[in-house]
Amino acid sequence: MNKYKRRLNSNCLPVIAIDGPAGAGKSTVARLVAERLNYIYIDTGALYRALTYKALQKGIDLRDEKALSDLAANTNIRLLAENGAAQRVLCDDEDVTYLIRTPEVSRYVPFVARVPGVRANLVRIQREMSLNGGVVLDGRDIGSYVMPDAEFKFFLTASNRERALRRQKELAAKGFQTDLIELEKEMIERDLLDSQREVGPLVQVPDAVVIDTTTMTIEEVVYKMLEIINGGEK
Ligand code: DC
Repeated sequence: MNKYKRRLNSNCLPVIAIDGPAGAGKSTVARLVAERLNYIYIDTGALYRALTYKALQKGIDLRDEKALSDLAANTNIRLLAENGAAQRVLCDDEDVTYLIRTPEVSRYVPFVARVPGVRANLVRIQREMSLNGGVVLDGRDIGSYVMPDAEFKFFLTASNRERALRRQKELAAKGFQTDLIELEKEMIERDLLDSQREVGPLVQVPDAVVIDTTTMTIEEVVYKMLEIINGGEK
């Protein structure tokens, strides 16, 4: 609360951090909250996905931390806001918005995201984009590491089955047919990798508002978050 006031007094708009495991609904609600507040939405997972896409394209050995760190240092990834909230992802000027959402990229991204040199570069981009506030970031380590002084922190969760169901629907809409049990298994494995890595792990900070979205509609989650943000309560 004190930090909130301090930033508002210095004419800085608030930063909203949304963390949680895959499929908890983070990106959908983050986009909507940003839209309603006229803030910029920063999909931090898209940065890790874009770099993973490039590493796979170049045939880089994903166990080679130095090669991945060098790649991160020499890749220009940009998130372009469109209509206030939606965004395109550019990787060295190639539009990779859709190419980074394939099951292949999803499978390999934790191996890239766990490399300290990769995270250092991508965290720098996230902090630069958040400098003036008025941003909604979704990811795994936003409230704990990227923006620890964010005015509002949320941690979204949902049951494993519900998260897998959501991801299955999302993939089906893009033309990928997947097995639910396999998807759930893969998701749990990915969460484990994201939670157990040494740098920037998925973590629920004590000052985050936890929202279990299992039985909630998107609109209900957005409403609850806006109520907290507009009410200024933590
Ligand atoms: O949210 P997502 O599924 O698009 O994230 C893709 C991967 O990137 C996932 O394995 C977690 C990782 N990630 C991360 O390590 N840190 C972030 N801030 C965001 C995503």
